Amino acid sequence: MSPRERLAGKMEFPPETQQPNVYPLSWESKTRKMEEIWAAAQRENWDPAKLNWDTFDVEKYSWEEREAIAYWWSILSVFDASAPPVFAAALIKTYEAHEEDPVRRCFFSVTRDEQNHEQMCGLAITKLLGSTSYLTHEPKSALGEKAQKNVKWLYYNGARYWEGYKRAVPKYSLAVLFSSFLMGEIAAATIFHQMAAGCKEPVFQEAFRNIGRDEGRHMAICMSLMERDYPHLKDEDKAIITKQIRAGYLFLSGVLFEPPEEFWDIPSDFIANQRACDEVARKAGFGIPTYDQKKENWQGAMLNLKGVLDKYGTKFPAIPEVGITGEEITDVEMEDIIPVF
Ligand SMILES: [Fe+2]
Ligand SMILES: [Fe+2]
Repeated sequence: MSPRERLAGKMEFPPETQQPNVYPLSWESKTRKMEEIWAAAQRENWDPAKLNWDTFDVEKYSWEEREAIAYWWSILSVFDASAPPVFAAALIKTYEAHEEDPVRRCFFSVTRDEQNHEQMCGLAITKLLGSTSYLTHEPKSALGEKAQKNVKWLYYNGARYWEGYKRAVPKYSLAVLFSSFLMGEIAAATIFHQMAAGCKEPVFQEAFRNIGRDEGRHMAICMSLMERDYPHLKDEDKAIITKQIRAGYLFLSGVLFEPPEEFWDIPSDFIANQRACDEVARKAGFGIPTYDQKKENWQGAMLNLKGVLDKYGTKFPAIPEVGITGEEITDVEMEDIIPVF
């Protein structure tokens, strides 16, 4: 490669900067709602390490209970530990696309929030298990052993989408990406409010209230971007969105409902083990919704999303698992996922 030609001696002004350039040199602000959400994010920022951990006495739980509750946090972390890199990539995209300034800031805030959620998972798991990961933890009860096997399978499955995601980010417009983000956020906002209401442990209540509030903001970000962009959506994008919704449903069912075997590569005792953990955690005062509550929550979230997409003439996929009819989508692979939580 020859050294770059020096131009400054030859012309008064530099040539046009080639686009796309990763950073815009402007701070345009058109979407008012985004400014409000950013301001709320600044006000509501919290630190998982500063929650009231002093009130948390892990010794009052049996090992079986500790391992059951840590299992739930581990399911969550399969999603929340992958959210920081997922949103960091989306943040870079907002810069490459020269998005408005408040949109860039909002994506920055989501990345930070998800980092907090991941830290919260880590703190809870470390305190409950007395070790830094379920994967390397030495199970102390028969249930803990089953839970660990499940965690290994969740981890294996969750790791399968990243390469696909990296390919999807440059390929799709932000508008397409939002649709996948939105469904995760709608569902998450509901489940964390339920968890906050159902948990007896003060430090977990506090965490769930904070996480639920964060997810509510994430949902609002997606909604206002959809309001801005969806009226101009191209037909080919609409078809991709329909498929992404089905893919997102299958993927997120892993945490919000039960992972469907047609999509999640899991052993036949997985669901039974998970239900056993849920049961023990629930009895110990850790408010995981019951099967029916999860189903109702998930169905509600899907109907909400359907309402949004209907408004913009985008077809909704069939989700027979929760009784929603629509466009039949059959060929969904882990590699197709634009995952978010
Ligand atoms: Fe999150
Ligand atoms: Fe989120």
